[in-house]
Amino acid sequence: MALNYLVTGGAGFIGSNYVHRLLQRGAHVTIYDNLSRAGAPRNLDWLKKDFGEKSFDMQVADVRDAAFIRTAARQADVIVHLAGQVAVTTSVADPRSDFEANAFGTFNALEAARLSGRDPIFIYASTNKVYGGMEDVAVAEDATRWHYADLVNGCPETQPLDFHSPYGCSKGTGDQYVRDYARIYGLRSVVFRQSCIYGPRQFGIEDQGWLAWMTIAAVTGRRITIYGDGKQVRDVLHVDDLLDAYDAALEKIDIAKGRVYNMGGGARNVLAVWSEFGPLLEKLLGRKIEVARAGWRPGDQRVFYANFSKARNELGWEPKIGLEQGIERLFRWVKENQALF
Ligand SMILES: NC(=O)c1ccc[n+]([C@@H]2O[C@H](COP(=O)([O-])OP(=O)(O)OC[C@H]3O[C@@H](n4cnc5c(N)ncnc54)[C@H](O)[C@@H]3O)[C@@H](O)[C@H]2O)c1
Repeated sequence: MALNYLVTGGAGFIGSNYVHRLLQRGAHVTIYDNLSRAGAPRNLDWLKKDFGEKSFDMQVADVRDAAFIRTAARQADVIVHLAGQVAVTTSVADPRSDFEANAFGTFNALEAARLSGRDPIFIYASTNKVYGGMEDVAVAEDATRWHYADLVNGCPETQPLDFHSPYGCSKGTGDQYVRDYARIYGLRSVVFRQSCIYGPRQFGIEDQGWLAWMTIAAVTGRRITIYGDGKQVRDVLHVDDLLDAYDAALEKIDIAKGRVYNMGGGARNVLAVWSEFGPLLEKLLGRKIEVARAGWRPGDQRVFYANFSKARNELGWEPKIGLEQGIERLFRWVKENQALF
C-alpha cells in the first residue's frame, strides 16, 4: 500500500523537490505550508503542471498552529519536517518569529507525530549552524580559500554543539527535541544537519540560498554584494543527493532512528563563496561579473565543511553529483526560467 507522507514546507525548495519525487512513485502526499516563501506558489504550480491539480493534498497552514498540524498528521506514516524560518539575518531582526516557527513549530510537529497513534517516521532538516563558529578549530588561508588546518576530513557529528544566532538556537532546539523524542518516546526520528543545499526550485535571496541567489542575480542582471573576503568556504550538496539520504534513512530506519547525520558535500565538494564560485559562474555566463564589496557579516564562518562518513557507513550514502555538474544544472534551470524571478 502507498505510504502517506506529510511534508511540512513542501512548497519550498527542498520540499517541492521531495514531493516531486514522491508523486513520481505514486505516494500519497500532503503538503503543509503557509506559503510565506516568495517562490512557494510557483513551486506548487510546477507540481500541479507535472502531476495534475489533484495529485496531492494541500494544507495552507502554519506549523505554529498546534491543533491544525495535529489534524494534518493524523494519517501520516512519514512526516518530513522542513517548514520554518530559514535566514540567519531574519532571525536576528525578529528572533521571536524565528523561535515560534522553528523551535515551537518543530515541537508542534513532534507532538503531532507522538499523538497520532500511527508511529510515524519523522525526518528533520537541521543545520550545520548548530556547531556555531567552531572557534577552537584552527583555519588557514590559501590563495583562493580558507580551509581547516587540521580537521582535513571536515566537521564530524562529535563536534561540540554551540548554537550561534537566533536561527542557530531555534533550529538547534528543534534538533535536540527531535533526537530526544526518539529516546523518550521511541519516535523513529532522524536528524539531518544540512550544509548548503542547492539546486532547481531554489528561490535564493541575498539572505539565504547564496548559490542560487548569485546565479539568479548574475543571469537577471542584479547587483551581487560579496561580504567578507569571498574566500570563505562551504561544502555544497545538490538537492537530489540530499533526497537520496532521506530515502536511505527511510529504507534503513531501524539503523537511522534516533540518529543524527551531517549532510553536506564534504571535503570533495567545497567551494569558496566568490573567489572560486565567481569564475565558475562567469564561465557559464560567458562574461565578467562586477560585484560590490562589503564587510564581514556577523557569525559568518571562514570555513565550514561536513564530514559525512557516519551517513556513508550507516546509510550507504554519499553524494553523486559533483559541484561543477550540479552548478551547471542550477544555472540551466535559472536561465530557462527567468520569468520566475
Ligand atoms: N537550503 C539549505 O541550504 C538548508 C540548509 C540547512 C538547513 N535547511 C533547512 O531545510 C528546511 C527547508 O529549507 P529550504 O531551503 O527548502 O527553504 P524554503 O524557504 O524554500 O522552504 C521552507 C518552506 O516552509 C514554509 N514555511 C515557512 N514558515 C512556515 C510556517 N511557520 N508554517 C508553515 N510553513 C512555513 C515556506 O513557505 C517554504 O515553502 C528548513 O527547515 C531549513 O532550515 C536548509
